[in-house]
Amino acid sequence: MKNILVTGGAGYIGSHACKVLRENGYTPVAFDNLATGWQDAVRFGPFEHGDLCDRDRLDQVFERYHPHAVMHFAALSQVGESVEKPGLYWRNNVLGSLNLIEAAVAADCRKLVFSSTCATYGDQDGVVLDEDSSQYPANSYGSSKRAIEEMLRDFEAAHGLRSVTFRYFNVAGADPEAEVGEFHRPETHLIPLILDVIEGKRADLTIFGTDYDTPDGTCIRDYVHVMDLVDAHVLGLKWLEDGNPSRVFNLGTGHGFSVREVVDEVRRVTNKAIACKEGPRRDGDCAKLVSGSDRAIRELGWRPDRSSLERMVADAWKWHQKGGYSS
Ligand code: UFG
Repeated sequence: MKNILVTGGAGYIGSHACKVLRENGYTPVAFDNLATGWQDAVRFGPFEHGDLCDRDRLDQVFERYHPHAVMHFAALSQVGESVEKPGLYWRNNVLGSLNLIEAAVAADCRKLVFSSTCATYGDQDGVVLDEDSSQYPANSYGSSKRAIEEMLRDFEAAHGLRSVTFRYFNVAGADPEAEVGEFHRPETHLIPLILDVIEGKRADLTIFGTDYDTPDGTCIRDYVHVMDLVDAHVLGLKWLEDGNPSRVFNLGTGHGFSVREVVDEVRRVTNKAIACKEGPRRDGDCAKLVSGSDRAIRELGWRPDRSSLERMVADAWKWHQKGGYSS
């Protein structure tokens, strides 16, 4: 079986990617520093503890597994934190990725699937964002990811490293079999926070900003099911295996939901009361981020069949009731 090095393989999206890689006949090697990931989430292949800032450790792992390709998920990804601590984001995300890319090239591994973000586009007055839209990141998380996209272009020109870059919109839901799921400590993401309120782990949900220029005044996001998202990664890997050129794809559904609409849907699906209060805007948030995603559907044959809000909430709720990971 072909080994795939999965950085961030103990994290939310990386662990789901390991599951579908396994199902598709690959061996996922999870590389993670466990800063935000969980060893319990590594269930589908070997685990290598390590940090992207440690080049020697990376070289050891490339030497041990000779990966056929890399899927690069490992990153710090909290918008608010990135506004307060840009140095942390530039060091961890950009320098970490530079080490990884250099180690891959040195090991003659020249296929890489990269997790980028719609945060690279920034706030553009609510237009639907396609892959050719300009990129004006509104926070250091977005700028760090845009810098890595540029790095990949330079390394392709010089060293022939081909890549597929996916710009994610808001990832939600969980493995329907609830073997892995979303579990952050502290939690900052909307749907798991609402589920925490339902379970009495939090008193209420604070809605960050009710004065945005949107129909109900709250932010609009485009939510995509994590299983659909990781399916796209396998298609991206096959795209590279088939010898196609480097390409950027948005991963979203093209439909936006406001914070209030998400709260209403969780209330409907779970049939539970949700206490909410209104608070100020959160630094770095954009009013509306909605994807134009036809390219992935057209060119990769991607089918985001599980990305209805109802299905994402139902799968997240099923996973959430298991209580997350302990280590
Ligand atoms: N929100 C609240 N209250 C909360 C938490 C979130 O109102 O307690 C709102 C946010 O303001 C935002 C929406 O819910 O409008 C979604 O927030 P999340 O934190 O779940 O997700 P983000 O949109 O901030 O972040 C996601 C990804 C990032 C990515 C970003 C792009 O998690 O990795 O989209 O903007 F960079």
